[in-house]
Amino acid sequence: MATANDTAAQQSPWWRDAVIYQVYPRSFADSDGDGVGDLTGVRERLPYLAGLGVDALWFSPWYASPQADAGYDVADYRRIDPAFGTLADAEALIAEAHALGLKIVVDIVPNHVSDRHPWFREALACGPGAEARDLFWFRPGRGPAGELPPNDWQSVFGGPAWTRTTNPDGTPGEWYLHLFAPEQPDLNWNNTKVREEHESVLRFWFDRGADGVRIDSATMPAKDPALPDFDSAAPPLPHPYIDRDDVHGIYRSWRALAEAYSPPRALIGEVWLADPVRFAHYLRPDEMHTAFNFDYLNSPWDPAALRTVIDATLSSHASVGASPTWVLSNHDVTRHVTRYGRADSSFGHALRQHRTPTDLALGTRRARAALLLALALPGGHYIYQGEELGLWEVEDIPDDLRQDPIFHRTGGTDVGRDGCRVPLPWSGDLPPFGFSPDTAQAAPWLPQPAQWASCTAEAQDGRPGSMLTFYRTALALRRGEPGLRTLDFRWLPVDDPAVLAFTRADGFVCLANLSPAPAPLPRDAHLLLASDVDFDPATGHLPPDTTVWLRRP
Ligand code: NOJ
Repeated sequence: MATANDTAAQQSPWWRDAVIYQVYPRSFADSDGDGVGDLTGVRERLPYLAGLGVDALWFSPWYASPQADAGYDVADYRRIDPAFGTLADAEALIAEAHALGLKIVVDIVPNHVSDRHPWFREALACGPGAEARDLFWFRPGRGPAGELPPNDWQSVFGGPAWTRTTNPDGTPGEWYLHLFAPEQPDLNWNNTKVREEHESVLRFWFDRGADGVRIDSATMPAKDPALPDFDSAAPPLPHPYIDRDDVHGIYRSWRALAEAYSPPRALIGEVWLADPVRFAHYLRPDEMHTAFNFDYLNSPWDPAALRTVIDATLSSHASVGASPTWVLSNHDVTRHVTRYGRADSSFGHALRQHRTPTDLALGTRRARAALLLALALPGGHYIYQGEELGLWEVEDIPDDLRQDPIFHRTGGTDVGRDGCRVPLPWSGDLPPFGFSPDTAQAAPWLPQPAQWASCTAEAQDGRPGSMLTFYRTALALRRGEPGLRTLDFRWLPVDDPAVLAFTRADGFVCLANLSPAPAPLPRDAHLLLASDVDFDPATGHLPPDTTVWLRRP
């Protein structure tokens, strides 16, 4: 007999509780041996992804790009980067993924384009005062000869957020704004052409079957047109370029566009905002559907911090009727096996705690516990490629092989994000571990550690207790639990505040022990899954850094 929960699960749109796997195309699988991943490589491994048990795939940008910021510098949204394949490959990939029951989310980057985008080329060629320049933020410099930037804004990647241009006649010209790298000029969203073009790009991908979009740097496209100086020690409010009220108009239009499709397409925001009320504004019923929960990602492996962020997440989302998300890693942050193996396991340190002492065995144990905890919470869940293999941050990439503009623009002070972007190990005992074919003419674009021989998908396949087996088991169980597909959630009373215990619908219970001491198990429950493969429920106790899923009568 169908229960109320079954019905709720059937009626709920997919994105409300989906498990979404992030594919970082450069590092997923290289079919043609050039050392860079590509779409054919992904197509060959779609059965692996379907078998993992995820619901959807989010692709970091696959568009034509000079790759100054690994594809987040888009030169043409309607073409695939030749390193990755062709538009026909993308169309085939979408069709094949759909046939396997996987939804597709593409990445849209509204804040900026590549400096090789035809719009920017034209703006440079036309010179000051041209209409083409109004698509960007060109301004004369300050100082007697315009030799100083128009204001004091700093790039997120380090250094000034302005670069001076050269006029078509060779004289020093205006400056243009780039909140990220100089190769990523910011767009002027007050210009209707910018709005129309992005809506056309959304339609282009929705018409090709994309089920949703991930919106890059979603708080940043709107700017204060006065471009005032910005004192970072005492930031003015409203902020001149983060989370301005007029940014919401963009997403309201996009929502209407997405809703005009059948089924409606999903809008997923990259919204890094500490203020939960401002965050929730992006999830109002006529804006985005969901947004990444970076507060959860940033949180240390600490019971009080996690309890606080879970409560704050649930209440901020409830205030607008939105479904939460739970995120442990992505292509911008230190992999969580490494974070959780450190004395301070939070993320958000300016310099990423590079090479601080790390206990990878502890981090791995906690990563398993963290997966069961996060998967049991109400809402959607994100998996970053390779976490199902238990990969850790690669910290010993030689400086001359590092590619991230953050590394280069900070003069290496901030080591950047290459360590979480190292190509995946699929099979074999030596690099490239099946990432590239045996006949490859180039090494993987970032070097893989020799120790990954034990982490390959092949080595873990079917092995009881491997991270891969654990992910497959957990995802299959989650999918079969209708109680996990509702927003039903209640904390359970515990004696030790370092134990996080909660119940969902249908008697489902999650117990995570973050205390250094064993925690008593409820007597009347039976075990569904434990994060520790050696866990024995007969002991009546849950070891430290372990999570279990239980069912109560
Ligand atoms: C956020 C993306 O996740 C990151 O990788 C990129 O560098 C910036 N936005 C700029 O697009």
